[in-house]
Amino acid sequence: MNQEHKNGADRLTQEYVRSHRGSLSLHSEAERHFAAAGATHAARVADPCRPYITHAAGSRKWDVDGNEYIDYTMGHGALILGHSHPAVVSAVREQAGRGLHYGENHELEIRWAELIARMMPIAERIEFCAAGQEANMMAIRLARVYTGRRRILRLRYNYHGWAEGLVAPGAPGCITTDDVTEVPMNDLAAVERALSGAEYALLLSEGGGARMAGQLPVDLDFQRALPHLAHRYGTLYCIDEVVTGFRDSPGGWQQLIGVTPDLATLGKCVGGGLPVGAVVGRADIFDSLNPAATPDRLINHAGTWNANPLSCAAGAAACSLYLDGTPQRQAAESARRFRDRGNRLLRDMGISGRLHGRSIVHLYLGPIERDDFDPDFEAPSTDIEMLAGTAHAAAKTRFKLHLLQRGVATLRGGMFIFSAAHDAGDVEATLAVLQETLHTMHRESSIPAQRTS
Ligand SMILES: Cc1ncc(COP(=O)(O)O)c(C=O)c1O
Repeated sequence: MNQEHKNGADRLTQEYVRSHRGSLSLHSEAERHFAAAGATHAARVADPCRPYITHAAGSRKWDVDGNEYIDYTMGHGALILGHSHPAVVSAVREQAGRGLHYGENHELEIRWAELIARMMPIAERIEFCAAGQEANMMAIRLARVYTGRRRILRLRYNYHGWAEGLVAPGAPGCITTDDVTEVPMNDLAAVERALSGAEYALLLSEGGGARMAGQLPVDLDFQRALPHLAHRYGTLYCIDEVVTGFRDSPGGWQQLIGVTPDLATLGKCVGGGLPVGAVVGRADIFDSLNPAATPDRLINHAGTWNANPLSCAAGAAACSLYLDGTPQRQAAESARRFRDRGNRLLRDMGISGRLHGRSIVHLYLGPIERDDFDPDFEAPSTDIEMLAGTAHAAAKTRFKLHLLQRGVATLRGGMFIFSAAHDAGDVEATLAVLQETLHTMHRESSIPAQRTS
């Protein structure tokens, strides 16, 4: 870190502290309760702290100090309609007046399921649960009973939740078994080598590529080969569409690129902003949930929050707006405008970094291996380790703080999650903040410069 960078870093932190006094005061209380540096989610850990929010609407949110943000965290990706969409809010209000939880069947669960099935044709059966990771846990159980096998094959860096069996093998606190095996992304030979032993119940991969719809893009030929390869060796194939369904299109990632899995898992946008998970897929795979199944095959799925009325109300209201693809298109269009203009800025300033992604735009910092990449589906590098790498983690942390101080909230310092509520004015304002931030960081030498040969 050069002296100018050090001074800049100090100045930035001082300015942030000055304009976030209320947040810092709450943060010091939070540190007494929450072990993760006062945060309640790994992505909300920050130094000095992320802002404490009081309210949100459309593309914006406000903190306890009165600071306004253009929000690109969008409920960790759940809010493709933006904050507090009137149709969702009124459905939740109405349902709250009728009862929060019946502990019974109710009509809204059917209406919601119908909407999901209309958008995703593989959804011959739907099983609701409380969160995206629960959907993945259920997919694993269904596949094990269906195939009579135990092992799960997953792709490195793909995220499916934090629970046992979903995190990468070897994660602290997890039981070490050979039940879950990881192979590199985009390496078809490695997938086939693993599958060829005919031991795997399920092959699970993230829709859109790893980490929020493709911080690490998946090669499309590789992606399209997975269902056939899995079937060749008697393995079921599940796409985790917790982020991409129904963000990437009304039919999710599978519709966008034309691939048909046996199962798909859903969450985030499907609940319109309330907690949800769902696993969908071929009817025969769900037979083990039927009480008529033999006791050795019966899965007893009792979740307190399964299809709870509030999530059903929010989810059905939101899904009815996803059907014709309008919000998805609006989010993707704003994202594209930001991404393409942002890339012009990065190129013109000689910064070794680029933006890529569809309705979730990812900032990549590192060597530019190719500058003619397709930013919808590719990144400036094919080196997965480089894309996932922590080489420029400090620059991203600093970038995140610069943006927050200027009224732009990103997820993890490099993800801009767009919604239908982000308009042209938001894009222009964000580009102005991006330009100012890049100039400052360039001056401070805190962002990588492109090598000129
Ligand atoms: C691809 C993917 N799958 C599963 C999950 C877990 O979902 P949840 O946090 O709702 O359990 C996430 C969360 O970010 C995710 O990105």
